[in-house]
Amino acid sequence: MSADQSANFARRMGQMRPSTIREILKVTAQPDVISFAGGLPAPELFPVAEVRAAADAVLTQYGSRALQYGPSEGFMPLREWIAEELVRRGLQATATEVMVTSGSQQVLDLVGKLFLDPGDVVLTENPTYLAAIQSFQTFEAKFVPVPTDADGLIPDALPALIRQHRPKFLYTIPNFQNPTGITLSAPRRAAVARIAAEHNLTVVEDDPYGKLRYRGADIPAIKHWDEAGRVLYVSTFSKTIAPGLRLGWIAAPADIMARLLILKQAADLHTSSFDQLVAHTYLTQNDPAAHLEKIRQAYGERYAVLDGALRAALPAGYSWTTPEGGMFLWVTGPENLDAMELLGRAIAQKVAFVPGRDFFPAGGGKNFLRLNYSNATPERIREGVRRLAALCRAG
Ligand SMILES: Cc1ncc(COP(=O)(O)O)c(C=O)c1O
Repeated sequence: MSADQSANFARRMGQMRPSTIREILKVTAQPDVISFAGGLPAPELFPVAEVRAAADAVLTQYGSRALQYGPSEGFMPLREWIAEELVRRGLQATATEVMVTSGSQQVLDLVGKLFLDPGDVVLTENPTYLAAIQSFQTFEAKFVPVPTDADGLIPDALPALIRQHRPKFLYTIPNFQNPTGITLSAPRRAAVARIAAEHNLTVVEDDPYGKLRYRGADIPAIKHWDEAGRVLYVSTFSKTIAPGLRLGWIAAPADIMARLLILKQAADLHTSSFDQLVAHTYLTQNDPAAHLEKIRQAYGERYAVLDGALRAALPAGYSWTTPEGGMFLWVTGPENLDAMELLGRAIAQKVAFVPGRDFFPAGGGKNFLRLNYSNATPERIREGVRRLAALCRAG
């Protein structure tokens, strides 16, 4: 038995809670559980053969260099690939303004370190990404929610919040938001960029899902309208290649990048050289756009199956969002629903989801459910909704 060392823990640990999702994921790892819970991509769509071939080619071509330490900014050809891709999507970025990170989750940690002292305010959507809340909590941030509606956050609310709270930054997920699936409209994106410039507001634009649009037309990123250099654009290969590679990135102006680089060095020296080489080889030796198309089709189909099954089976009093891409939809239950209690009954029936509560940085949200539709096959989605709806009707 080890001695209790909690008296020696840092003050920040007082705020930290284990993630409900991580706890739920332990249950959903059992194969007979139908999971709408984690944000797991469809494993059968991972490009296993292509990644195997890329790994082989990397070791043949680069030999021991592939296993050596590398630059903290990342592997230059991969940074160039990312910058070209950003330019194709209407963003101004050069390779030197791109840093490769260990997942985009690491960017959130580095950005927190760069901007946040204890008590500093972060503006967020309400609800927002659970692990962003956790990450910024490490720096003892305070969260101030920005009012939102079906088109995402409401930019007109920002100036008053900025004046009142002097936030260090706005954290936003404009495409198919996690957890709601909601997309910020184009006029609002332009407005956010304009307000950021006028009020000297830093915007952290987190965009893991933008390429997973299965309906409607793409909308340029907020950074597209950012002439003042206030927007830090964050994305990842987790949803377009595979999350196990742990490859994300940030595109930011040079002065921000110089500071992030110091923090990156202190955090882990650099992101895995081998994984970066494999990803770059995969991207240049294959047709990633065709692969993406397969993912989009599958997720579009799964979304339609989930939406149809919910329509057919959920009782009155439940409503949900209609995302045009990404991996999640967001269910609002009746006022008196306790989604945590529902989860207990759901797990007994071998179906899982994430209760909405933990996505609200300022509390509340007991009657919401986040449903993921990327991970389960259509048959399992139908069966999962059948079980879940029976519990909703009983409860
Ligand atoms: C909004 C958002 N940001 C960041 C991440 C982190 O992704 P990764 O670290 O795998 O790039 C996720 C993962 O689900 C996410 O949903």
